[in-house]
Amino acid sequence: MCGIIGYIGKKTTKDILLDSLELLEYRGYDSAGIALFAEPSQGPVVRKVAGRVSALRSVCEDLPSDSCAGIGHTRWATHGGVSDANAHPHQQGRVTLVHNGIIENYKELIKEYNLKDKLVSETDTEVAAAVLDTLYEGDPEAALRKLVSVLKGTFAFAVLFSDKPGNIYAIRNVSPIVVAMTEHGALLASDVAALGVHAKEYAFLPEYQVACLSAKGILVHDEKKREVPLQLMEIDWDTSRGGKDGYPFYMEKEIHEQPDAIRNTIEPHIVNGKTSFAEEQIPDSLFRENQNIVVIACGTAMHAGLIGQQLFHTLANIHTDVAMASEFTYTNPVIKPGTLVIAVSQSGETIDTLEAIKYAKKRGAKVLSIVNVKGSTIADNSDYCIYTHAGPEIAVASTKAFTSQASVFYLLAIHAARLNGLLSLEEVAGYLADLQKIPEVIGKILDRKDFIKSMTRNLLSSDQCFMIGRGLDYSLLLEGSLKLKEISYIHSEAYASGELKHGTIALITDGIPVVALVTQSLLASKEYSNIREVQSRGGNVLLITKQSLYKDMNIAEEDTFILPELEDMFMPFPAAVVMQLIAYYTSAAKGYDVDKPRNLAKVVTVE
Ligand code: M6R
Repeated sequence: MCGIIGYIGKKTTKDILLDSLELLEYRGYDSAGIALFAEPSQGPVVRKVAGRVSALRSVCEDLPSDSCAGIGHTRWATHGGVSDANAHPHQQGRVTLVHNGIIENYKELIKEYNLKDKLVSETDTEVAAAVLDTLYEGDPEAALRKLVSVLKGTFAFAVLFSDKPGNIYAIRNVSPIVVAMTEHGALLASDVAALGVHAKEYAFLPEYQVACLSAKGILVHDEKKREVPLQLMEIDWDTSRGGKDGYPFYMEKEIHEQPDAIRNTIEPHIVNGKTSFAEEQIPDSLFRENQNIVVIACGTAMHAGLIGQQLFHTLANIHTDVAMASEFTYTNPVIKPGTLVIAVSQSGETIDTLEAIKYAKKRGAKVLSIVNVKGSTIADNSDYCIYTHAGPEIAVASTKAFTSQASVFYLLAIHAARLNGLLSLEEVAGYLADLQKIPEVIGKILDRKDFIKSMTRNLLSSDQCFMIGRGLDYSLLLEGSLKLKEISYIHSEAYASGELKHGTIALITDGIPVVALVTQSLLASKEYSNIREVQSRGGNVLLITKQSLYKDMNIAEEDTFILPELEDMFMPFPAAVVMQLIAYYTSAAKGYDVDKPRNLAKVVTVE
């Protein structure tokens, strides 16, 4: 969480910092700040505010345009509330820094270094700045090394030293820092989203190495002061290009990008009517020898895993568990020989997922990850990685990443079934052909988005909502419900319809909106009985189904959405898009900032 940017070069530092922070706002947006050398002999000037980057701009107008080095930060509060004082950068003596992560032993450090009277904020970050100032004796690299040797926790720091106006320094452990050289100067950032507008290539700063940026270049040193060569990667996405493309919010744009995202994700893996993971060098033995799969992920990514679980069961007869990554390490999970862990993450930086991966690897599991951001930490820590090609996802609410992750699970389950002799080549080709039709089917849903918008009228007047379904429908509704609550702030619960009568039906009263999803033939009649139970208690049902499963339940036409007819197995795709649009239009109609819901951040790098 939190976005970091640093720039040193010939262009106007202030503008580069502020523009980049706007691109990084999705990582955190409760406060923002910059520091730059307005006058090299006088140390960096800091400007920071509680609020968005737009508010920061207005307090930076008087800063000169000829300063050469600066750092910036957009915050998601962890230690200390949202206030000007707690915003980064933090300045202590000769040190000005921004930080991503959490310093766990900050209280001990305050005592050990006698810092109490020096601190003006409530943050762990300012403690790190004060310790660094104490340790600094003119050699930034040495001081940074001493600093990280006394810190416990996670960190990515970008640092200015008052007496080194020609340099920016960085060091990190778990939280990422990327660096890039351009014709006009050097940049560092918390992620590549901020670099695309300036650079064509970037590199990850390895853990515990010190980067020193100057207008001439980027030097990285290891603990023995040996130069570490940068592993350059091409930047193949640029979040600044195209912007919202005429849509009012990124979320709507990203919902519309799903046909391309899925196409780009699946096509490289379909070769002559067969699944192929040759490019990722995934050996066939991975699905032949491992007959136990554990999917670890968080939030939306975990919901993609729930779809995957049913596919592995149904098609490949492989036992599959889905674990919340944040709980995984604390539940003594059973990792036996023959367990394959599949980790799913859009950002590739979610710390809960990363920690779960490390735990599983220590116990001997092979880890295959499904990741959207190239070269990210999770990709780097996995034995094998399949990239989704969804492109940059900026809205906090995940949409195209979800359907792209799901599409990889379809490929993997079909692949595993083929390798284990459970699907003939003909059946494989048939399923893959169905999968290849999904982008077109999603296009059909998007054509009817105005109807979906009109379906939200019942939700707008309610502060709660239930969603019911069975099997794949239930898994999909967990995602639909998360979407609705995270951006519209309506309390929404997804329930397996059959579970309602075991307690939750007590909450169904007159007029409560209940979204019912019925797309699975074998479960439809039971689902309709559950719908009837809800209607008998006054629930106001919105029905989403397909024509072949439609049943007249006395639900108004305007509250019924008929999905395109597909094999049951593929119904989560069109249903997902309907649920995303329901959440989107509800949030937009309530006047919320859809892309930046309260209290959330796109990349979750704290446990
Ligand atoms: O980057 P990741 O996919 O690892 O993120 C996991 C969750 O934080 C994420 O899916 C979150 O639930 C969504 N942004 C919600 O829409």
